[in-house]
Amino acid sequence: MATYDLVVIGTGPGGYVCAVRASQLGMKVAVVEKNATLGGTCLNVGCMPSKALLHASEMFEEAEHSFAKMGVSVSAPKLELPAMMNFKQQGIDGNVKGVEFLMKKNKIDVLKGTGKILGTGKVEVSADGKSQVVETKNIVIATGSDIARLKGIEIDEKRIVSSTGALSLEKVPGKLLIIGAGVIGLELGSVWHRLGAEVMVVEFLDRILPGMDGEVARQFQRILEKQGFAFKLGSKVTGVEANSKALLAKVEPAAGGAAETIEADVVLVCIGRVPYTDGLGLKEAGVALDNRGRVQIDAHFATTLKGVYAIGDVVAGPMLAHKAEDEGVAVAEILAGQAGHVNYDVIPGVVYTTPEVSSVGKTEEELKQAGVAYTAGKFPFTANGRSKVNQTTDGFVKILADAKTDRVLGVHIIGREAGEMIHEACVLMEFGGSAEDLARTCHAHPTRSEAIKEAALAVGKRAIHM
Ligand code: FAD
Ligand code: NAI
Repeated sequence: MATYDLVVIGTGPGGYVCAVRASQLGMKVAVVEKNATLGGTCLNVGCMPSKALLHASEMFEEAEHSFAKMGVSVSAPKLELPAMMNFKQQGIDGNVKGVEFLMKKNKIDVLKGTGKILGTGKVEVSADGKSQVVETKNIVIATGSDIARLKGIEIDEKRIVSSTGALSLEKVPGKLLIIGAGVIGLELGSVWHRLGAEVMVVEFLDRILPGMDGEVARQFQRILEKQGFAFKLGSKVTGVEANSKALLAKVEPAAGGAAETIEADVVLVCIGRVPYTDGLGLKEAGVALDNRGRVQIDAHFATTLKGVYAIGDVVAGPMLAHKAEDEGVAVAEILAGQAGHVNYDVIPGVVYTTPEVSSVGKTEEELKQAGVAYTAGKFPFTANGRSKVNQTTDGFVKILADAKTDRVLGVHIIGREAGEMIHEACVLMEFGGSAEDLARTCHAHPTRSEAIKEAALAVGKRAIHM
């Protein structure tokens, strides 16, 4: 019987990163994966394929709408959807191979099959009707999440799709109805809208992107509407009927009332994700779940069963790949006797649309609710030189700083490349920096990042270019 220091169940960004770090720290490690390929949701049907399609569709749209105004004359671009899907697949394959390489390089055994915890130190791995039991000092559960479903709306991944089906549609839908104005709805809605679909988003709440700063969400909604998105907020889809020609969705006000029927060619259900623990045998083994079905852990990722830990989407916190990765590193370091740690106050969130939306730390709503006195410094990209010459001036940077100490508590950006720009705010916040620190840091000219420096100056009411 094989014995290990650590067996990680699941090879998403949480699991494979945990395995690599544990191996670096001298542990004998195995990963268990039930999927045919490594990399989890993120590499196979999440972050990476969606970003490939976002990039390709953005290029298509630029060629269609932006080249001419820069004096670049090309004939109207033609969409070759199979080739675009092939571009996406090449990206997936490249990244999956990268994880396989990392497993080999770090001498991590890959056990293909479904992992089940039999008790402390024992994992059963089953595939094709055969099973083996491996012994290990510690186990990390990194089994991720699955799509949340809507009662009465059957996902067939052809016409009624989850994000997985929406990443592989065979043709551009004439009308795409999206249920849920969260990250997936707005990213994948952008992909298909750029490629020609009419997009309507039905959202239960009276705003888009719950959890993001309210002002950012309002402005972002206006930008998306200008692009052609239609929103039906405060509404819910109660059922979808299919006939041979179209899908007929019944949409009602969230609080109840008269229903209307909206026609669509494809319906995308993206109302969140749920922790995935099927087949792990947690109940029998004595691993407790919380009231939302997530694996219950303490501050050191330990579950209720000795020697069993959990990280990533299957535990509480934002369902983000980089959060899972950082938890993977932290738990490996804890198991090696080090002080592994994740700073949950500084986890950036990015929506990879055009423009992008990025955010780290507290929103204005959260600060108000907590009764924290703050100063806001805001700077629009219309006043940023580089954005002006590129004619990409949508959006702004907003910095929220403690009114007494000037410590930066939150940074929110809408704008091109906002997802890259957020990281200087993350570093600043990780070191407990102030708006004044940022304002006094020299920023290269001409860059979009100068808008961050200007927003920091605006906290002290002394922005230069506004
Ligand atoms: P997962 O990546 O879900 O991996 C879990 C793995 O465990 C899977 O491979 C699964 O097969 C395996 N597994 C489960 N049970 C067992 C078992 N019993 N035995 C063996 N193997 C098992 N996040 C971002 O940060 N940025 C993005 O841009 C982004 N885009 C996304 C786009 C989409 C369309 C979706 C759906 C998600 C996106 N996410 C994004 C979220 C991100 O994918 C997840 O937060 C991340 O994958 C979580 O990592 P994880 O390691 O916890 O789990
Ligand atoms: P989400 O939680 O971001 O958004 C779901 C939306 O659906 C919310 O606005 C919610 O109010 C709404 N909703 C819920 N029930 C509804 C109903 N019955 N009718 C209408 N609206 C309803 O979830 P989403 O977009 O499915 O994404 C899942 C997870 O994947 C997120 O937690 C996110 O963190 C992650 N992800 C991250 C990305 C990124 O970092 N760029 C990209 C894509 C996904």
